[in-house]
Amino acid sequence: MPAFTAHAPGKIILFGEHAVVYGRPALAAPVTQVKATATVMATPQANPGVVHIQAPNIGLEADLVELPEGHPLVKTIQLMKNYLSLQKLPAFSVRITSTIPVASGLGSGAAVSVALLRALSAFFGRPLSDDEVCALAFEVEKVYHGTPSGIDNTVITYARPVYFMRNHPIETLRVARPFMLVIGDSGISSPTSLAVGDVRQAWQAHPDQYEALFNQIGSIAQTARVALEEGQATTLGEMMNANHKLLQKIGVSSTELDRLVQVALQAGASGAKLSGGGRGGNMIALVDATHGPQVKESLLQAGARQVILTTIG
Ligand code: PMV
Repeated sequence: MPAFTAHAPGKIILFGEHAVVYGRPALAAPVTQVKATATVMATPQANPGVVHIQAPNIGLEADLVELPEGHPLVKTIQLMKNYLSLQKLPAFSVRITSTIPVASGLGSGAAVSVALLRALSAFFGRPLSDDEVCALAFEVEKVYHGTPSGIDNTVITYARPVYFMRNHPIETLRVARPFMLVIGDSGISSPTSLAVGDVRQAWQAHPDQYEALFNQIGSIAQTARVALEEGQATTLGEMMNANHKLLQKIGVSSTELDRLVQVALQAGASGAKLSGGGRGGNMIALVDATHGPQVKESLLQAGARQVILTTIG
């Protein structure tokens, strides 16, 4: 029986998380050192319509009908069935593995959706375009994020650095000079939907204050875009530090993330910030080739669960 396998990378948000939900621009890039993989295979020995799912990383092994209606994997398979106007599902198995830590700001949910949508569409003999995959993955993001901006499914589907604004066509970032980032995992898992929900409540309670903070984050993202496209590493570092301060103000940092950011700066990073939903998950630090290994080592010594050194551009 042929197996249909697809992969999708992780991602980091470079600038603009949370404000992007409110229409401000954000920058994000794929992280190819980690990935989600989905494999779909026919199981002719099983009764028609029986879909067996295995996701060993999260200890899941069940038939589709045993999972709750709102489960992201159920939603993904149902979306695909409706999109392809399939009357009935055949018998098949789905296996999902991922090296992307869950609920840590590296886009694990969106990467699973993108990989699974691609593997399913290949299995059904109806390969989808990137635009179609991106739009369907956005629907699944609503399960994870509540009110997603769409940045995660976009950067992961197209697998290139992007400048993203809600309801605007996707723009690819032209990175003038590749730059190196250290990504440090606080090891604290933090569902994005909670942080996004708390920010929404705070925004509703103090709209003027939060709109002003989102504006400042948006203009940092604009400045950072120019710095990236013109290869101004110093400005990029300064913008990261400024963005982190604003994320602290909107209430999505944590003692642990602040500590890792400080450790990275003390070890020679030229800028650092939390990345993604916050509260836990990952932080990123801008480094040059000399300081990269030193920053990585310091973060590990300071208790980071996992540290990835990656080059963007
Ligand atoms: O999936 P995360 O944790 O990287 O968060 C995505 C970024 C947010 O701006 C917090 C949410 C969104 O939908 O844009």
